[in-house]
Amino acid sequence: MMQAFGVVETLTPTRQRPGAADNGGPTELMKLTNRTAAPTTPAKQESAAAPVPSPEPARAQSAAAAVLARARSAAAAVEVPTATAVAKPRVSRRLTRPADDCVRDGLLKGKKALVFGVANDHSIAWGIAKGLYDQGAEVGFSSMASLIKRRVRPLAASIGSTFVEGCDVRDDDEIKKVFQRWHAKEGSLDILVHAVAYAEKEDLAGNFSATSRDGFHTAFDISVYSLIAMAREARPYMPPGSSIMTMTYYGAEKVVPHYNVMGVAKAALEASTRYLAADLGPSGIRVNAISAGPIRTLSAHGIAGFKLMYGGFKDVTPLRSNISIEDVAGTAVYLASSLSGKTTGEVIYVDGGFNILGLPVADEQL
Ligand SMILES: NC(=O)c1ccc[n+]([C@@H]2O[C@H](COP(=O)([O-])OP(=O)(O)OC[C@H]3O[C@@H](n4cnc5c(N)ncnc54)[C@H](O)[C@@H]3O)[C@@H](O)[C@H]2O)c1
Repeated sequence: MMQAFGVVETLTPTRQRPGAADNGGPTELMKLTNRTAAPTTPAKQESAAAPVPSPEPARAQSAAAAVLARARSAAAAVEVPTATAVAKPRVSRRLTRPADDCVRDGLLKGKKALVFGVANDHSIAWGIAKGLYDQGAEVGFSSMASLIKRRVRPLAASIGSTFVEGCDVRDDDEIKKVFQRWHAKEGSLDILVHAVAYAEKEDLAGNFSATSRDGFHTAFDISVYSLIAMAREARPYMPPGSSIMTMTYYGAEKVVPHYNVMGVAKAALEASTRYLAADLGPSGIRVNAISAGPIRTLSAHGIAGFKLMYGGFKDVTPLRSNISIEDVAGTAVYLASSLSGKTTGEVIYVDGGFNILGLPVADEQL
């Protein structure tokens, strides 16, 4: 069986992440707590509204009573949020957990996304799918047919998704069918995520000059041409304002030991991103790439030098932190939303700043 970067099947068992409940946007809980009057507030307002002392005790007393009455009625009318009210909401759990069929709020409310490349819950594609969902998008999936039953369908179900189609991206007909089925079921497509790559294991180790012709073709076919084919098939269904994104790595620009043919494929992927952006731009479709720092995924473990890439990364990258699939998802949400409405053909780094370094050095080496 073909696997991304020629990886062995000894996967970390899929850990199911609860997804359906923690959607973005204001919840009924917030609406209700913000409108809850505080029991202690009137007393505070009474003292704040205390009358000025007068030389005439009787008049002063009646004036004070009038002010007090006005203050009481004002306090009753004004709904003031307090820490107490927010901390102890008396709200039914049902109201804070909208049913799946409710329209969810968020930056991507009402948008429809199709994500290629989920292998398991460590996949960058899964991080992005979850991020899009959390911002209100409806998400469908396409992955290798062999992964669907055990890996992809349960993840899709956890975010209420029923569109899950098998596809080997080496086959144009399979790609076409996925988009035709999407169109038949969903109509249009606003967000397309391409998070697919593969190279033979022997081409991700040793000398670059030893790369075989077949290995070169395979890496380019799956990791680069698939983006072009997907963009072509998706284009008729994508309205102006839509967004396509792909995943790349710094090895496209600089030599990274053992990344070899995949580095050259990523360079072609980044160039394809620019050509597609120019091609699809007049139709209002944006195309961008995210260049992520090293993340421990199934594909990554197939690279002989991955330990080198990942090992000291957080000690030298300016933000001194590893990169997570949630970090990538944040940028994917930005690229999917209208916030990036005038950005296309770009490679955006999510690498803690690693790419700006001329000489990556850890603190203890300085
Ligand atoms: N993990 C990293 O450190 C890292 C860093 C930067 C960029 N990327 C890129 O991110 C993308 C996603 O990779 P990942 O790290 O999440 O690994 P992953 O193994 O979770 O995802 C790779 C996906 O490609 C799919 N794939 C491979 N061959 C296919 C084929 N013929 N047809 C259909 N699907 C196929 C696999 O099934 C898998 O779902 C890749 O493009 C990768 O190069 C990864």
